[in-house]
Amino acid sequence: MKILSFGHALPKRTVTNAELTQFLDTSDEWIQAHTGIESRHIMTGKETLSGLGAKAAKMALDRAGLKPEDIDYILCSTTRGEMTFPATACLIQARIGATCPSLDINAGCTGFLYAMDMADALLESGRVNRLLIVCAEQVSRLTDWTDRSTCVLFGDAAGAAVCERGDSLKTVRVSAEGDAKLLHAWASGGNCPFDDRIPEEQPLYMNGQEIFKFAVTRSCRDIESVMEICDLTPDAVDYFVLHQANRRILDAARTRLKQPVEKFPRNIATHGNTSSACIPVLLSEMAEDGRLQRGQTLVLSAFGAGLTTGAALLQY
Ligand code: ACO
Repeated sequence: MKILSFGHALPKRTVTNAELTQFLDTSDEWIQAHTGIESRHIMTGKETLSGLGAKAAKMALDRAGLKPEDIDYILCSTTRGEMTFPATACLIQARIGATCPSLDINAGCTGFLYAMDMADALLESGRVNRLLIVCAEQVSRLTDWTDRSTCVLFGDAAGAAVCERGDSLKTVRVSAEGDAKLLHAWASGGNCPFDDRIPEEQPLYMNGQEIFKFAVTRSCRDIESVMEICDLTPDAVDYFVLHQANRRILDAARTRLKQPVEKFPRNIATHGNTSSACIPVLLSEMAEDGRLQRGQTLVLSAFGAGLTTGAALLQY
């Protein structure tokens, strides 16, 4: 497959670290030193996840010079959709005025890589000519806003990509190591009178230090693996576009690959971790400011709940 364009959308409300100190035992210094985050965007008021996703989708369609009817399939990556059903993909489909099959996937923060893998298979099968990927994430709804060790890390956003058949994706690798111990969020329990085992809805739990180690080892492994498959060295790659979970994770990968800081673009300072939206939002911003150019070689890599990981190498 090849990617024709990217789009993104952010909630209007920006929340700074200083604002968090008004109700949490934390500080701007701690958050910046431990994560690299200065602020994040949080959905408020009448903003909806499908509205945010539709805005990102429209930007990607406009940039590709396409209309909603040109799209044959919508894949939406979301860790918690706007509703349990319909799928957020269907809500986005209705908002943009498309008529194609639409469904959600959940591969945690690795969702964009999983969506690329599925898009590649659908396009290669010949059943689909053009496909829209939307990563729409409202992580602010999953976190416990009294838990300083998690709520400071996340933000809300949507990123989108329009794909069609082509050969710019050189390889994509995804993996899962089913394990809920280190990172999970329970689904809502319901009130079935015959089942007393249904857990109450509980917010996101994360063992930060173990996830940190997992992230560094698996990301480096995946990045090296896609470069090896394509017979490329790190010097031949223009950008390493990584999941924006923690600046220290990005620095650890960069140091291991011995690459300059400009080759590891980041928006974590202003967006925080927006789960599967991180990578398409960042690529869309890079397209906007001119850093992303046709022909460049990109390595993408992400990790997240599942535990899942993924990496891809493409010539944009
Ligand atoms: N403000 C002030 N102090 C804090 C805060 C905070 N916001 N959060 C934790 N602390 C304290 C802890 O209580 C601890 O205090 P103690 O020593 O008195 O017990 C101290 O800071 C150090 O805590 P650590 O957990 O060791 O801090 P660390 O440097 O490991 O940073 C962090 C924590 C940022 C969570 C880091 O481990 C991390 O980024 N891990 C990876 C997370 C990740 O990648 N998640 C992505 C997957 S999830 C997803 O994407 C949906």
